[in-house]
Amino acid sequence: MPLIYFRAQMCRHGAYLQLLQASKVRLKGCNVKRLTTCTAPVGHQKKLTNAMRIAVPKEIHPGERRVSLTPQATKVLTGRGFEVLVEAGAGNNAKFPDGDYAAAGAKLIKSGSRDLYKNADCIVKVRAPSLINENSTFAEVELLRPASIVVSLVYPAQNKPLVDALAKKEITLLALDCVPRISRAQAFDVLSSMANIAGYKGVVEAAALYGRFFAGQITAAGRIPPAKVLVVGGGVAGLSAINTARGLGATVCAFDTREAVREQVESLGAEFLTVNIKESGEGGGGYAKEMSKEYLDAEMALFAKQAKEVDILITSALIPGKPAPKLITKAMVDTMKPGSVIVDLAAEAGGNVETTRPGQLYTYNNVIHVGYTDLPSRLAGQSSSLFANNIANFLLSMAPKDSRGVLELNLQDEVVRGSMVLHKGKLMWPPPPPPTPPAKPAPPKAAAASPTPVIPATVVDPRIAKLKSALVASVGVSGLVGIGVGSPSLAFTQMLTTFGLAGIVGYHTVWGVTPALHSPLMSVTNAISGITAVGGMLLMGGGVLPGTIPQSMAAVATLVSAVNIGGGFVVTQRMLNMFKLPTDAPEYNSLFMIPALALLSTYGYSVFSAHPSALDSVHQAAYLASSLCCIAAITALASQKTSRLGNVVGVTGVTGGLAVTLGLLQPDPALLTQMLACLSVGAGVGAFAAKRIEVTDLPQMVALFHSLVGIAAVLTCIANYAIEAPLLFANEELVAAGNLMKTVAYLGTYIGGVTFTGSLIAFGKLQGLLNSKPLLLPYRHALNASLVGISTAGLAGFLATGASLENPLLPL
Ligand SMILES: NC(=O)c1ccc[n+]([C@@H]2O[C@H](COP(=O)([O-])OP(=O)(O)OC[C@H]3O[C@@H](n4cnc5c(N)ncnc54)[C@H](O)[C@@H]3O)[C@@H](O)[C@H]2O)c1
Repeated sequence: MPLIYFRAQMCRHGAYLQLLQASKVRLKGCNVKRLTTCTAPVGHQKKLTNAMRIAVPKEIHPGERRVSLTPQATKVLTGRGFEVLVEAGAGNNAKFPDGDYAAAGAKLIKSGSRDLYKNADCIVKVRAPSLINENSTFAEVELLRPASIVVSLVYPAQNKPLVDALAKKEITLLALDCVPRISRAQAFDVLSSMANIAGYKGVVEAAALYGRFFAGQITAAGRIPPAKVLVVGGGVAGLSAINTARGLGATVCAFDTREAVREQVESLGAEFLTVNIKESGEGGGGYAKEMSKEYLDAEMALFAKQAKEVDILITSALIPGKPAPKLITKAMVDTMKPGSVIVDLAAEAGGNVETTRPGQLYTYNNVIHVGYTDLPSRLAGQSSSLFANNIANFLLSMAPKDSRGVLELNLQDEVVRGSMVLHKGKLMWPPPPPPTPPAKPAPPKAAAASPTPVIPATVVDPRIAKLKSALVASVGVSGLVGIGVGSPSLAFTQMLTTFGLAGIVGYHTVWGVTPALHSPLMSVTNAISGITAVGGMLLMGGGVLPGTIPQSMAAVATLVSAVNIGGGFVVTQRMLNMFKLPTDAPEYNSLFMIPALALLSTYGYSVFSAHPSALDSVHQAAYLASSLCCIAAITALASQKTSRLGNVVGVTGVTGGLAVTLGLLQPDPALLTQMLACLSVGAGVGAFAAKRIEVTDLPQMVALFHSLVGIAAVLTCIANYAIEAPLLFANEELVAAGNLMKTVAYLGTYIGGVTFTGSLIAFGKLQGLLNSKPLLLPYRHALNASLVGISTAGLAGFLATGASLENPLLPL
């Protein structure tokens, strides 16, 4: 899964709420100073000093091996001022010894002691507190201190008696299974963490039960074909299963009703299966909707065919709040090969396979069925680590940084509100639905009157589909020839060619990158995009200081691009270092400074020794070497093994590009000083900021850096226009080139502006300064189309001004 870190900034949304008086938030038997309901702007909150006590009991549910906090997460919480009480032996089943908790600053409480509950302000658990003493000498609910906080999985819809019992004790109950699936809350999303583990463990169980290899081999004894795996449902669990099965060498195909899943499935190296019916499976918020009967029939016909061929079948299809759809019938299982294995991950919700027995390992008609509903618990160490990280992130999101060990429950925060089942005993669940987007305009009357089919299902003829794509390709190739005919100059067509080929190289380079490396990839490409500094340098002028306004703009563009370069590579390195284990073999990547020095020294030597007529070729070849280093850097990010080396090669590529620009320009010593000052100050500032930032803030740092590339592009385009236009339009023969420059300036300013504002909004959302929900304006498609129309008209108007330079800021 992509590594995404978000720091929750609680209370910022509730800026206009007022602080409740301490007497109003006093909870019976609870130290009032340890829990407040946040209702005030951050700056106005009262400083609270007494640390809150968080208790970690041993799980008593039969077979539950996980523990809610690990020693590592304990250390994080004690570091932030919380007191952590751990029941002795709580982590034993997940292989976390008591000594490690004590070393992390926790206080160990005797096993079975009621003191743990008596002294706790907040209990953190994996399973919900037990209501009856079936598996223990006590019911956990009885022991809970009145008015304390409980954080655990709850499933309130299925556990009403438990919720009622906790309400009577005035408990504040936060259900981890109700945390809304929004980007800011990914760091607290235990359901995704556990589904990820279930997908992995499901495949591992299947591999152990399947009597053959997963990977194909050619041996002296004969050829072994790879196992064929079908994964139904490409959500978190399904994608994890695909990744694991691919890792073991199996041939994998997958099916999901949501088209958005196709790309993720294919990026993991699996084949995405489809049916010949067009119907969207998107139910909003990344979840699926129930499909029409026609669609389900077509899907099941596909599975019936596949059942005869596959060796391993993993099912994980689910629609939130509904029983799992039955997609694999007994008749299909009857046709499966003897010895094949079915892992029904949806067993707990009833199962996707008719013959599954939830919770059991069972063989029907020689097909082994894995119906375990506790797969995460079967990988207790890993599950506990992720679960504990999710809980610690969740708690810290409610603990402002300047408060030591105090939780503030901001009811205005959608994550707190969404997960809150009880607030001091008052039922808060289900939370109010999010504000509905503005209603769609009513369809025209005639359309409303016409009988619309309830199910929008259309059968697609494959011949027509192929013909359509053939026609699209024909329009594409003919259109390109047409562009050549209408091209204003050869330079334009050459630029277009470079752009087109670079696009294809970029597409294929990025396509193979594993999902876990998507964030570092984004970061390294962002750092490389700081090569916009070259554009600024080409326009810089004056002496030690710029002499004109356009020259100043070019200097600022170079400076901010350098911030992006320095910061971008450091952020990437920090992200990649998080994948490194202390046990990993040393990589010796610093040896790749040798090719960097080789590039710089051979280029420097060639510039001084080559014949002047050969200089252009030298520059061009050195630019080529630098560009190839940048492409190699992105390619190396495709795998964990080479990713850190990729970052070093990226630094070489960008440094080479900047050095060649200096060699090309050969500025006088004063201008050289200005250029080097912009580059070194910018890179230094960026690297310093990237080193200081907290790990959880790295994604928003990337967004902030990326906005600098946008502003650099805007400044460079305007400066270029202001410097070049008088020269080009003064000569009649160069008017066509002038118009091309104006077009490039307009488009560059436009795209740079979009990059700048878009990246700033992304930063605001990731930082929690802006609401992370998508802003869906009514008539947005029409609005977007009008904006494109207005912008195109703006370009036409700009070109129509001819050589006029009255308003050089017009591109903006
Ligand atoms: N067995 C265990 O121990 C264990 C542990 C954790 C999670 N799970 C289970 O794994 C399942 C998947 O969890 P998740 O987090 O990946 O859920 P999810 O909501 O992320 O994914 C479910 C996927 O099923 C797809 N789907 C829905 N209807 C479909 C249909 N008719 N045909 C094909 N695909 C369809 C959806 O589009 C979605 O992509 C759930 O049932 C969950 O309870 C099991």
